[in-house]
Amino acid sequence: MRLLVTGAAGFIGSTYVRLVGDEHDVVVLDKLTYAGRRENLPEGTNLIEGAIEDPAVVREAMQGVDAVVNFAAESHVDRSIDDQEAFARTHVVGTGTLLDAARELGVERYLQVSTDEVYGSIESGSFTETSPIDPSSPYSATKAAGDLLVSAHFHTYGIDASIVRGSNNYGPRQYPEKLIPLITLNALHRDPLPVYGDGRQVRNWLFVEDFCTGIHTVLTKGKAGEAYNVGGPDECENIEVVKRVIELTGGDESLIEYVTDRPGHDRRYSLSSEKLKAELGWEAQVHFAEGLERTVQWYRDNEWWWAPIRSGEYREYYEKQYGKSLR
Ligand code: NAD
Ligand code: TYD
Repeated sequence: MRLLVTGAAGFIGSTYVRLVGDEHDVVVLDKLTYAGRRENLPEGTNLIEGAIEDPAVVREAMQGVDAVVNFAAESHVDRSIDDQEAFARTHVVGTGTLLDAARELGVERYLQVSTDEVYGSIESGSFTETSPIDPSSPYSATKAAGDLLVSAHFHTYGIDASIVRGSNNYGPRQYPEKLIPLITLNALHRDPLPVYGDGRQVRNWLFVEDFCTGIHTVLTKGKAGEAYNVGGPDECENIEVVKRVIELTGGDESLIEYVTDRPGHDRRYSLSSEKLKAELGWEAQVHFAEGLERTVQWYRDNEWWWAPIRSGEYREYYEKQYGKSLR
């Protein structure tokens, strides 16, 4: 297949390209925002720099393509709380632009990469694909709007489209605004470790390679008009995640600092992947203990990757987000 993979200069999309790049002909469309980096992609990848909300660039990138996998997104909840505009543009206008072009050009298959956060927070039990959509943050609300546009294009125009909803990913090449890489790099530098609120929030951790095999399973075997959850095998309170990273980095718990909670903070995410398992035979392979060890080791071994990030735009973001609340 010739695949158009959007947003693949980011964390998860670049892992996906590594997984399928030998077997399929891949073209990447990426705006190269702060989170998108050429060096995330394998050497020689065909990369078009442009935005998914730009109809001309999208049509050019989609020529001769059999399937589209849309990873392109603004992916950080805290940034969406500061300013939702880019989130709405990419997740809603951008998704609509991709769907229109896919329909006009007769692309055979479309896959939308989405998140468990569209279901909102759950105290006990797990969300299934029939749970109501109830997002809390501008990030998740705009992702949910993108998902609904995909469903609308299936119902209205009969486009062969599916949605995958992943739980919290972690692994190599994740931008250090997210909890696990942020805590890992801070612990390695003996910097304070910011924990929001009481740190008892729960996330369902999914190793990025497992998400990518789930995505490819749904792309190749999933049913049109359906959504599939891809959940991690383990859940963990944030404070426990932080303590495990401290252990792996040889850090010190006195670095932990409890800071003001995120507004509208979802308490717990939990996703049932039963449908994907029962219907398409996918199962997560990597448990949190193993995946976290591999991830921390990757950050230890790849200073070339994170050193330029920590001294660039990220520094400014970090000061704005944490400067006042941390020592
Ligand atoms: P990321 O921030 O690392 O990468 C996003 C990529 O999209 C970047 O390369 C960026 O340059 C590109 N991009 C942003 N706006 C664009 C636009 N308008 N046009 C073209 N490219 C654009 O994000 P990620 O963590 O790799 O997430 C990828 C996808 O997976 C997103 O759709 C996200 O919602 C979803 N997801 C993420 C997680 C997670 O834990 N990170 C979990 C479930 C689902
Ligand atoms: P994050 O990695 O931003 O992912 P998401 O908001 O999509 O779940 O955050 C994961 C959890 O960690 C979430 O409950 C917020 C919390 N968190 C902190 O406690 N401190 C931090 O500095 C960050 C970035 C997140």
